[in-house]
Amino acid sequence: MSDSTQAGESIVDSDRIGEVGIHTVEPGKVDVSHKTILYLEDVTVSFDGFKALNKLSLYIDDGELRCIIGPNGAGKTTMMDVVTGKTRPDSGSVFFGQTMDLTEMDEYEIARAGIGRKFQKPTVLPEHTVFENLELAMHTDKRVWTSLFSRLSGEQRDRIDGVLDTIGLRDQARRAAGLLSHGQKQWLEIGMLLMQGPRVMLVDEPVAGMTHQEMDRTAELLTSLAGERSVIVVEHDMEFVRSIASKVTVLHEGSVLAEGTMDEVQNNKKVIEVYLGE
Ligand SMILES: Nc1ncnc2c1ncn2[C@@H]1O[C@H](COP(=O)(O)OP(=O)(O)OP(=O)(O)O)[C@@H](O)[C@H]1O
Ligand SMILES: [Mg+2]
Repeated sequence: MSDSTQAGESIVDSDRIGEVGIHTVEPGKVDVSHKTILYLEDVTVSFDGFKALNKLSLYIDDGELRCIIGPNGAGKTTMMDVVTGKTRPDSGSVFFGQTMDLTEMDEYEIARAGIGRKFQKPTVLPEHTVFENLELAMHTDKRVWTSLFSRLSGEQRDRIDGVLDTIGLRDQARRAAGLLSHGQKQWLEIGMLLMQGPRVMLVDEPVAGMTHQEMDRTAELLTSLAGERSVIVVEHDMEFVRSIASKVTVLHEGSVLAEGTMDEVQNNKKVIEVYLGE
């Protein structure tokens, strides 16, 4: 990539950090003229002959909120690994919009192009405040002292405030992240992802360990985030999946078993047999 030198070079030049140290996705960079933002077609991934993904085809619309469910080992996390470039498919194609072939991009390029992922395990810095965690997420240069000693522009401050409002943590902004509840940490993590301006957000099991109240707020949050960006949620908690009322895809043995509304998939014979009937 032509600008790959930007990530690691800013040491003390704080003016430049402000200029280049932000992930932004230029609007229109992802060609969504056909409404679809993510294409997986006939994607196969084998581990020692075992097909974790088996000719998986999946299409996500621009702005869509999609839930992916399925039994353990169905290939849900592997699907996210393929989209984010962590795992290379043996065959099949993976496209971001009409033009970007994700199988030819590395993890860093894919993240920069606008595909963000939230892992299950929180990566917040516990001794830093909520605000600082968001600030750090905005910078490409992850060295804490470099990022925190750069002066924030008014615009950057506004962006952080905007994300604080979105994730409902404005009144926690000055608290150390380590003091947040489990649910709040998860929201902060989502906020850190938002700081990078993704067009597609992949979220793996967001409500594991949350209280019912936290789950309700997470459902509201993820619903509110769709539209401006696409959100793909992998989750086992059926009550939660129902509450966000989006299109549901059921994966089984590495391919799509069923797709539709929650009611449709819950009444699908094959789905009951392999998953929900357990
Ligand atoms: N790096 C790897 N090496 C070998 N096998 C793997 C690897 N990653 C995944 N697998 C296998 O591929 C299959 C799909 O795993 P994956 O993690 O994608 O399932 P999942 O749908 O996310 O399951 P869960 O609901 O338990 O998270 C599993 O049988 C798993 O053991
Ligand atoms: Mg998984």
